[in-house]
Amino acid sequence: MKTLVTTIFLFGAAIAMAQQSDLQPPLRDLAARHDLLIGCCVNTGAFRQAAAGDEPRFAALLAEQMSILTAENAMKPKALVPRRGAYDWSVADAMFDFAERHGMQVRFHTGLWHRAVPDWLEGDDVADAERARFVEQHIQRVGQRYADRMTYWDVVNEPIDPKQPDGLRETIWKQALGDDYLHKIYRWAHEAAPDVKLVVNDYGIWNGGRKTDAMYELVKGMLDAGVPVHAVGFQVHLLGGEYPDPDRFEQTLRRFTALGLEVHVTEMDVAISKYDDDLSPEQKLQRQAEVYRRILEGGLRVDGFTVFQTWGLTDRWTWVDNFIDADDAPLLFDEQYQPKPAYFAVREVLAETAAD
Ligand code: XIL
Repeated sequence: MKTLVTTIFLFGAAIAMAQQSDLQPPLRDLAARHDLLIGCCVNTGAFRQAAAGDEPRFAALLAEQMSILTAENAMKPKALVPRRGAYDWSVADAMFDFAERHGMQVRFHTGLWHRAVPDWLEGDDVADAERARFVEQHIQRVGQRYADRMTYWDVVNEPIDPKQPDGLRETIWKQALGDDYLHKIYRWAHEAAPDVKLVVNDYGIWNGGRKTDAMYELVKGMLDAGVPVHAVGFQVHLLGGEYPDPDRFEQTLRRFTALGLEVHVTEMDVAISKYDDDLSPEQKLQRQAEVYRRILEGGLRVDGFTVFQTWGLTDRWTWVDNFIDADDAPLLFDEQYQPKPAYFAVREVLAETAAD
């Protein structure tokens, strides 16, 4: 893994000399006018190939256009702790190095999730006490290791289930640590990394409704109890042909900023497979662009909207194809790294909307 880190270092130097694209000024500069960080998740495979020199455009575009990155999978417990007691920080560290060399922030994703659980912690034979011990130590280790390097931290990912009486998803972590498990975990995280802003991240909360209400109750309860939480992450995976209303999105965000929290779009992607078959491919991309525009416009109207991230950089690497079993194209750049109508829509909104 030393080789990966070294190659990335050399590669990083090469990017600094790489010719800039004609996409100027880059999104990150336009977003900065709004005190907004703009970014995406980084796929481990793409990152490795970029480090090996096989995908130079990936790293160059990422560094040029984006001011914040998130690991798609490399910082999840399953990737970090593949075996009991044996941590592998190599890819995570290399991503932090990359970000720092290019003046980018890092959102750590994610401390704990009901998915991406290490195999050795998953079986029925694992005692609750062992899981509880793991969580406390894991949060401390991540917090201490990256306290000065991460800006935001999705401490617990996707904790909401509006069908439960308490609004919380039943998970092995809740079972091991008790009903107030989020309070405990966020306190441990804050203790280990006091300057890092702690996020609760979830899907399906962007449009109001029961799940949004459950998230509101959760974070309000945390704040009332003095538990450190600083932001709510809205994933905004729009995979079913949704057409969001910017006013409604704005109103949803305002409920949370009224509590003093920041709000982030953390994982936006917009699938086109479910669009009406009557639309031409070009019309589908235009509609997709409009969806990105509406979410970003709604966000920019809200003080405290500080991060906008897509779940991937280019259509070459996207989880959507697997997730909805289609050959989709949900991101801002196409498989050849060319900017799509969605890219230009994001650009226009950032350039044309008046900054505060
Ligand atoms: C996804 C990754 O993109 C996939 O590669 C992986 O197989 C599963 O996880 N919500 C989240 C992300 O918070 O971590 C998920 O990422 C997508 C849904």
